[in-house]
Amino acid sequence: MSFKYIFISVIIATVLVVVVIMFHTNRPQVEIHQPSADFVRATGKCATCHRRETAAVVHQFESSQHAKNGVSCLDCHRGVDNQETKPHSGFTIAKELTAKNCSGCHSTEYQQFLRSRHAAPAWAAVAGAKDFTAEQIAFSEKYHKGAVDRPANPLAIAEGESATLVGCMGCHDIGKPNKDGSIGTCTDCHSRHNTSVALARQPETCGQCHMGPDHSQIEIYNESKHGVLYNAQKAHMNLNADPKKLTTKDMSVPTCVTCHLSGLDGLNVTHDTTERLSYWLFAAVSEKRPTYQQAQDAMKDVCLKCHARSQVDTFYTEAEDVVADTNKVISEAQTLMQSLHEEGLLTETPFDEPIDFLFFDLWHYYGRTAKHGAFMGGADFVQWHGNYELLHKTAEIEKIAKELRSKSAKQ
Ligand code: HEC
Ligand code: HEC
Ligand code: HEC
Ligand code: HEC
Ligand code: HEC
Ligand code: HEC
Ligand code: HEC
Ligand code: HEC
Repeated sequence: MSFKYIFISVIIATVLVVVVIMFHTNRPQVEIHQPSADFVRATGKCATCHRRETAAVVHQFESSQHAKNGVSCLDCHRGVDNQETKPHSGFTIAKELTAKNCSGCHSTEYQQFLRSRHAAPAWAAVAGAKDFTAEQIAFSEKYHKGAVDRPANPLAIAEGESATLVGCMGCHDIGKPNKDGSIGTCTDCHSRHNTSVALARQPETCGQCHMGPDHSQIEIYNESKHGVLYNAQKAHMNLNADPKKLTTKDMSVPTCVTCHLSGLDGLNVTHDTTERLSYWLFAAVSEKRPTYQQAQDAMKDVCLKCHARSQVDTFYTEAEDVVADTNKVISEAQTLMQSLHEEGLLTETPFDEPIDFLFFDLWHYYGRTAKHGAFMGGADFVQWHGNYELLHKTAEIEKIAKELRSKSAKQ
């Protein structure tokens, strides 16, 4: 008899414990980890509705370091400085969020970001200087001469507004001038609610914009030894490592950010993607940047965490030879195009004759691809998508030039 009661009470107790555990694990993460009254009020209230309205947002937020460190929904969503706000279910929230909603807590990252070409230069590359204040232009010109103080891009003008807005600006809005006076969109790399470094360390994150024939960085990376090893081994890497303590043990194979941003084994971590670049590879003819030596040393310091000096130096010598030879091919074609203009055989309007496109493809696709391939380990891109096409397009341009000249000689 007494055994029966003990048995029943054990069952009941077990069921109760299980129910409590189930209830507890189903409570929002933030309620478990965040005791602060303000946090519970803001996040709890937002989350109660938003678990119904936009559940994915709440799940993403709960997986973030922000949730674990007591940052609430309202900490980001409240309007700061001169942002427009609106009433929302008993709270006041900003109409639009920008880098300004992050920079209050992350000013170091914001200041580094501002110095990079991801900031104002990215926007100005399409729209020109017109959307920036005089101070913003002066600031950027200190670091990147001519990158912001420039006219709107002729191709963007030729294609028109709808293509520019959804096309060009889909990538170049990383440097958007915001109405509140700040610049840029941090969430392009971090996402809005998961805001993790693990995401930013994935090559695919950069590959959202760094892809295609004019900047094939993701394609080159995927075919490089680094990309192949990373894809095979990423499950064993610690992509969540604290940026201030990232070691080669956490990531023994580099992704885009390891070379361009991370502070591997004690190096400086930076949001200035320009710091380690020694050439303007995106240009038709690539010259050395004013910070050539310092930048190249900084990048080599990254390679040297994993490679021997002799390997790295040889790699750079070979890549710089590709830059020099590509420059030669493009310069010759450039001179030919200039002569055709001077001889009155081409209109002054950009992008209205087939040869304009051939010449643009020559440097913008194949020239760039050859140079990028050489610096990031993509043999196929140096060769078949690069130098082979350089030969092919040069032959076509020369043929058209000859035809134009003989046609005009006959007239
Ligand atoms: C009483 C329920 C409720 C509460 C509390 C609530 N929201 Fe909402 N929120 C909604 C609904 C409903 C929508 C509209 C969803 C839709 O359009 O499908 C919305 C939309 C939003 C939007 C998108 C607005 C837009 O116009 O694009 C944001 C941002 C937002 N809420 C943030 C918050 C934040 C931050 C909090 C807490 C400070 C919060 N909400 C609290 C119900 C709520
Ligand atoms: C790290 C900052 C940050 C935190 C914390 C944050 N948000 Fe957001 N949220 C953003 C940004 C940035 C946007 C994009 C706003 C824009 O485009 O103007 C956004 C957009 C939204 C939207 C509109 C989403 C859509 O796609 O329509 C909703 C709803 C929203 N947030 C709710 C919340 C809720 C609820 C919480 C807390 C559980 C929260 N947010 C926490 C930064 C944050
Ligand atoms: C109220 C202050 C506050 C705001 C606003 C804020 N953060 Fe944070 N953020 C923190 C804290 C606290 C941490 C965690 C501690 C740390 O790593 O410094 C953090 C961590 C991060 C991390 C590192 C996450 C990881 O995986 O280690 C990123 C990335 C980040 N924030 C991006 C953003 C972005 C982007 C915005 C704006 C959309 C933003 N933060 C807005 C306070 C804030
Ligand atoms: C898929 C994303 C994407 C789209 C769409 C895109 N770009 Fe870019 N653009 C980039 C990236 C990434 C770079 C950096 C290339 C590099 O440094 O090698 C770049 C570089 C440039 C540059 C050279 C850098 C500079 O400051 O002079 C110009 C000019 C430019 N883009 C203009 C445009 C215009 C105009 C359009 C639309 C007609 C456009 N882009 C569409 C991603 C894009
Ligand atoms: C939303 C689109 C976008 C994303 C995402 C993006 N970039 Fe860029 N990036 C650009 C554009 C646009 C430019 C060209 C800016 C210019 O020179 O006008 C650029 C330029 C660069 C440059 C050249 C800077 C210089 O000084 O010439 C580097 C390096 C770079 N990005 C690395 C990265 C890395 C690494 C990531 C991922 C962590 C990344 N980018 C993510 C759009 C993007
Ligand atoms: C081009 C992509 C990119 C953009 C844009 C970007 N970040 Fe990051 N961010 C990264 C990467 C990559 C890391 C991690 C670096 C590493 O590997 O250690 C990082 C790390 C961080 C961290 C963690 C730093 C630490 O030491 O713990 C914060 C905070 C942060 N970013 C905030 C921002 C803010 C604020 C902005 C906008 C001004 C921004 N990020 C824009 C790529 C980006
Ligand atoms: C092993 C290191 C390494 C990796 C990994 C790497 N890069 Fe690079 N990247 C370089 C080097 C080296 C250069 C040329 C630097 C110079 O100009 O001195 C370069 C050049 C660039 C440029 C050209 C900037 C210009 O002047 O046009 C961009 C953009 C870029 N990388 C983006 C990326 C992206 C995106 C990824 C990932 C898909 C990536 N890189 C992966 C080392 C790396
Ligand atoms: C985080 C470590 C790390 C960094 C940083 C790094 N690499 Fe590597 N790299 C590797 C690993 C691991 C391999 C594969 C080596 C092996 O199989 O022993 C590799 C392979 C290579 C290879 C191919 C070797 C072969 O198999 O033929 C080249 C070339 C190379 N790296 C150049 C560079 C250059 C140049 C830099 C800097 C711009 C760089 N790496 C930065 C880890 C790194």
